[in-house]
Amino acid sequence: MSFPYNRNRRLRKDSSIRAMVQENRLHPSNFIVPLFVMEGQNTKEEISSMPGYFRYTIDLLIEEARECFQLGIKSALIFAKVENDLKDNSGNEALNPDGLMQRSIKALKENVPQMYLMSDVALDPYSEYGHDGIVEGNKIVNDKTIILLADIAVSHAQAGVDMVAPSDMMDGRILAIREALEDNDFVDVGIMSYSVKYASSFYGPFRDALDSSPGFGDKKTYQMDPSNSWEGISEVEQDMEEGADIIMIKPGMPYLDMVRHTRNNFDVIISVYQVSGEYAMIKAASQKGWLNHDEAMMESLIGFKRAGANLIATYFAKEAAKILNNE
Ligand code: PBG
Repeated sequence: MSFPYNRNRRLRKDSSIRAMVQENRLHPSNFIVPLFVMEGQNTKEEISSMPGYFRYTIDLLIEEARECFQLGIKSALIFAKVENDLKDNSGNEALNPDGLMQRSIKALKENVPQMYLMSDVALDPYSEYGHDGIVEGNKIVNDKTIILLADIAVSHAQAGVDMVAPSDMMDGRILAIREALEDNDFVDVGIMSYSVKYASSFYGPFRDALDSSPGFGDKKTYQMDPSNSWEGISEVEQDMEEGADIIMIKPGMPYLDMVRHTRNNFDVIISVYQVSGEYAMIKAASQKGWLNHDEAMMESLIGFKRAGANLIATYFAKEAAKILNNE
């Protein structure tokens, strides 16, 4: 009987050698924390399908952002829950300089100036139909929408945002936004493009958070088919050519192959979005005692790093940062 000379277990013998050979590491500065803002004062509301996650009024949003920054999280991505009576099919409210999003950006930049601030650029929170574009008949029209998205991006830039994050999947919107930002002298305002965004059921809890579920149909005429991968590579290529600074892939866990394909094909900063449904799954299973919460959370996050992501947008940002800071 001959035993192996090569024993992989030598490098797993104790925690010291395991730490020495660890290939990927998480750091709080890898995280982007999504934050939900709503109208009102001194109130936060838990999102029922996202246990432990809240919508905040602007005053409390500032506290939350400050706490995140103190934990080492450098970036927040803001989503506004627009009042129902402001929703229509024009997107006008999205351009309101005193709109909820614009006021949030100003307040955050004033009070937590070092937090690198990103804003969601999309029409669905403002749409009476819950769609990411202007609706005509039963169509979500592309070209009128991208003109509007470019104006929204400028409006966020005027409020002081550092980077805009278009999450709509219209064609050509990165170029339209880049041109509009340049024309208005916002040359330093970046674009994080949701380039590879699938028509996914994992967005369910997010749509609860913003009350933004599509009123008719689905988002399959603009978001990607979950069966496709090469299409995603070409989406990334186009967005890079149009001027995207960061490429986003979304959702996360079911689409790690897309993170890896992108890593192998392009020299670009990749962000992955661990979406609301992924958060909900881990929360629900651990509440039932079926998963160890912290271990499942950290394992899901390191998986993104291993797949090749630089940045992770995750509702676990704060909880994970606390664990990393205690290591
Ligand atoms: C819409 C938008 C969605 C998310 C971010 N921006 C939902 C959708 O496309 O319907 C989902 C985020 C999440 O589920 O955490 N522009």
